[in-house]
Amino acid sequence: MTRYARIIGTGGYLPEDIRTNDDISQTVDTSDSWIFERTGIKSRRIAKPHETASSMAEAAARQAIEAAQINPEDIDIIIVATGTPDRVYPSTGCLLQKRLGIKNCVAFDVQAACSGAIFALSIADQYIKSGAAQKILVVGSELCSRITDWTDRSTCILFGDGAGAVLLEATDTPGILSTHIHSDGEYEDMLYCPNPQVATIDNAGEAGFIQMRGNEVFKVAVNTLGQIVDQTLKANNLQKSDVDWLVPHQANIRIIAATAKKLKMSMEQVIITLEGQGNTSSASVLLAFNEGVRDGRIQRGQIILLEAFGAGFTWGSALIRY
Ligand code: COA
Repeated sequence: MTRYARIIGTGGYLPEDIRTNDDISQTVDTSDSWIFERTGIKSRRIAKPHETASSMAEAAARQAIEAAQINPEDIDIIIVATGTPDRVYPSTGCLLQKRLGIKNCVAFDVQAACSGAIFALSIADQYIKSGAAQKILVVGSELCSRITDWTDRSTCILFGDGAGAVLLEATDTPGILSTHIHSDGEYEDMLYCPNPQVATIDNAGEAGFIQMRGNEVFKVAVNTLGQIVDQTLKANNLQKSDVDWLVPHQANIRIIAATAKKLKMSMEQVIITLEGQGNTSSASVLLAFNEGVRDGRIQRGQIILLEAFGAGFTWGSALIRY
C-alpha cells in the first residue's frame, strides 16, 4: 500500500502592524505607484519588538493543530523553515516544541531562504512515505523586517513578517504527489544576508541586512520556475490543465504572472497574498495555502502546485492532491 503525506490542518499568523508603501516613501526616495507597479505590493506586516520567529510559529502552528483536531503529543517531527531564527541555537524548531509543550518529538530547522517551506515539505514527505513518521508539523516563520535595511529602497519595499503552518498525516490516499527541490550555490552573491557575528575576511564590516541584485534575481527566478513547472508535471504525468490552483512564493507579481502564463492558468487560479503581505520568505507559500483553504477556494480533491525560489539559489515545488 502506498503511503502519502496528507495535509490535515493549516494555520497562519500575521503581525498586527501594517507598513504601507506610503509609509516607506516617507523615509526613502520611492512611491506607492512605483512599488505597486514593479512588485504588486501595497503593504506588509511588521512584527512588534517582542515577537520572534518562534512566537509567530507558535500562533500559526496552534491554528493548524486546531484545524487538524489532533493531540499535539501525537506529532512525531516539527520542521521549521526560517532564515531569521530566534537564536543561532537551539533551533527555532526546539523553541516551538517547548512553546507547544510537546515532550516526545524531534524538532529541527531548515534553512533554504524563500524556498524553505518547500524544502521542509519535501523532507516531511520523505519521512512519512518511508514509514518513519505518522504526523509532521511544518512551519515557515520569518522576521524579514529585522534583516531589512530600511534605508535601502531596492530591498526594503519587498519584505514582510509572518508565519504559516501545515500538519501532515500518513494516509493511503493522496496527499503530496511529489516534491522537487534544487540548489545552486554558484549564485550565492546575487541574494544574501551576511551574519556579522561570524564575519570572515570576505564579509567583515557588512551589516546583517539583505543584499540583492534584484534585476538579475528576477530573470533567473522566472526562468527557473518555468523549468520546475515542467519537471513537476512530467514527473506526475499530468497536463497543465490538471492543475486547479497555483500557490506560488510571493516575491513579485510579475514573477508569479510569468509562472501562471507558463501553466496557461488565469490569475483567478492563483492564490495571491503579496499585496498586503509582501515577501515573507519561507512563510509565504504556507500563508497563501492557508488563506486559500480557509476562504474556501482550495477544495478537497483538487490539485495544487506549490512553488518557490530563493537565495542560494534554491528552488522547488510540491504537487498536492488536497
Ligand atoms: N523606488 C523607485 N525607484 C527605484 C526603487 C524604488 N523602491 N528601487 C530601485 N529603483 C530604481 C533603480 O535605482 C533604477 O534606477 P536607474 O534606472 O536610474 O538606475 C530603476 O529603479 C530600475 O531598477 P531595477 O533594479 O532595474 O528595477 P526592476 O524593474 O528590476 O525592479 C525589483 C526592482 C527589486 C522590484 C525587481 O528587480 C524584483 O522584484 N526582483 C526580484 C527580487 C526578488 O524577488 N527577490 C526575492 C527572491 S526570493
